[in-house]
Amino acid sequence: MCGIVAYSGKKDCVDFLMNGLRLLEYRGYDSAGIAVVNPIGDIEIRKECGMLHMLEKSLSNGPLQGKTGIAHTRWATHGKPTQNNAHPHLSQDKKICIVHNGIIENHDVLRHELKNAGIHFISETDTEVIPHLIARYLSQGMSMKNAFMKTLSRLEGAFAIAMIAKDTPGTIYAARKGSPLIAGFKDNEVFLASDASPFITRTREVLYLDEGDVLIFNGTSSRLFNVSSGRNKKIRTTRLNIKNLSIGLGGHESYTHKEIHEQPEILKRIIRLRLGNNRNAFQMCFNDLKIPDDFFRSIDRIYITGCGTAYHAGYIGKYYFEEFMDLPVEVMLSSEFRYAKPKLNKNNLVIAISQSGETADTLASILEAKKHGSTVLSVVNVLNSSIDRESHGVVYTHAGPEIGVASTKALTSQVITLLLLSIHIAQIRKEFKRKQKNPLLKEIFHLPSKVVKVLQAEKHIRSCALKYHLATSALYLGRHLNFPVAMEGALKNKEISYMHAEGYAAGEMKHGPIALINKALPVICICTASKTYEKMISNIKEVEAREGIIISLATEGDEQVKSFSHEVIYIPETAEELSPILNVIVLQMLAYYFAKHKGNQIDKPRNLAKSVTVE
Ligand code: F6R
Repeated sequence: MCGIVAYSGKKDCVDFLMNGLRLLEYRGYDSAGIAVVNPIGDIEIRKECGMLHMLEKSLSNGPLQGKTGIAHTRWATHGKPTQNNAHPHLSQDKKICIVHNGIIENHDVLRHELKNAGIHFISETDTEVIPHLIARYLSQGMSMKNAFMKTLSRLEGAFAIAMIAKDTPGTIYAARKGSPLIAGFKDNEVFLASDASPFITRTREVLYLDEGDVLIFNGTSSRLFNVSSGRNKKIRTTRLNIKNLSIGLGGHESYTHKEIHEQPEILKRIIRLRLGNNRNAFQMCFNDLKIPDDFFRSIDRIYITGCGTAYHAGYIGKYYFEEFMDLPVEVMLSSEFRYAKPKLNKNNLVIAISQSGETADTLASILEAKKHGSTVLSVVNVLNSSIDRESHGVVYTHAGPEIGVASTKALTSQVITLLLLSIHIAQIRKEFKRKQKNPLLKEIFHLPSKVVKVLQAEKHIRSCALKYHLATSALYLGRHLNFPVAMEGALKNKEISYMHAEGYAAGEMKHGPIALINKALPVICICTASKTYEKMISNIKEVEAREGIIISLATEGDEQVKSFSHEVIYIPETAEELSPILNVIVLQMLAYYFAKHKGNQIDKPRNLAKSVTVE
């Protein structure tokens, strides 16, 4: 969601800002804009509705120049995606210009107050109150710093803000509360961005702004303050220890395609990292997990939380934890977590799952859990993200940057990590019967090569999708470990092919959705070998009796399922615990080709954002 890039230094910044916006495109947006302090000291803005090429066109018609500037991609929340609503936003006197990511929850009250003071609003956004408020405090005689700080103290909600001002042309102002913002430092230059990708090639000395941090760079030096106390803080930078972010397509037709195909390598990497190379004498390795073993021995309940795909990974994880440990495990949507009032206490472990590490609802759940004294362990892909930094312990999923908005490799990396983590914690609690489960551990080592085999079914899946891509709706059925897989398959389908789809526990079908079944409805049935296989067969028979189109996922060699399915996609035989990973990859490809046959833009589905930083 909304991306911010900003710069102040000795060089012209327009190219840097535009490149930065391109690197943040994956976050999702519907308009974009840029503002600089130009060589004669005025603030000049270009902003356009639509994709970045619209802004590029506007810049080629009216080029900008400047050594201090801010830029933004907007994902509409308050107000439609229009040019007026696009950021940056200016104060009435055109002296203060800001970009903002987040939501100002009390914007109505502030707007009312400013309107009463004679301010005329240009946009429908919550953001526009900010420059007007700053300008108002300036007109009352406050210094720029104080007007900025005073305004921030009046804002309720979440924000990451970057600001330039006509009266302080070489200075850039930034603040963060609840939305991500990272600063990079190099000699007499400062870079700001929503993640480090826009400036990673220019500097690796970074500061992750903390909650309530305000950073001011005046062209030669930077100062950091806390917005509540107003006190100075020491700037402690960290050196980013990552390779330049790999963002190329590597010969693939889209990032989503590339990321689906990266899964065998990522799984191999995670398995090696956690289990070592010796298949006979594996040693579980979770060195990144900074929670003492004693705590794991004392926990009496586990909550798992996440949003969307991460929630589905958590749902599969719930079954793992319950299988290996004698503990109650609840899985909850992060957007519901606080309202459901879970009875949290200090003996609870809350596992938060997030690819981006920035999802506002998941972050809010973590804060809620911490407030009640529970220990938070996060399963996160993006290092140093807000969720990473707010958690007591973190297990990284090592999936690499995920650019496609629809999560693919994020899910499988989360699921394998949760499986290994549940075994690790069960071992600490002496609940994991090593001998009994050894076949599972051995099978885990074969998983990457089995994923390669699943990917070889791509052509078959593509032609199957061609037959049914014009269906208006689809039903996904699974049981037990593959029930969340059914939900994930339906989510992928909705997201990228825009086909209405429902993921159901197969046993629930006769309690309602069975009414939908007719000759035109594709029903995707996950019927690979499992404890619930026979029950799943009965459910498929119910679909058959009502003439639904049966597309089955079955274990190689299963002739029974084939005999009553319109289409079968075969999966290599594996341990039941690993079946969700193989099955979900088939469903990712199915959704991918439904979308491709419809001619959809797969990497950036309409209305979606990669990093959902508003609640
Ligand atoms: C679905 C998808 C979303 C995310 C959700 C959580 O393909 O990408 O449902 O899974 O927004 O995002 P993270 O994992 O970044 O917290």
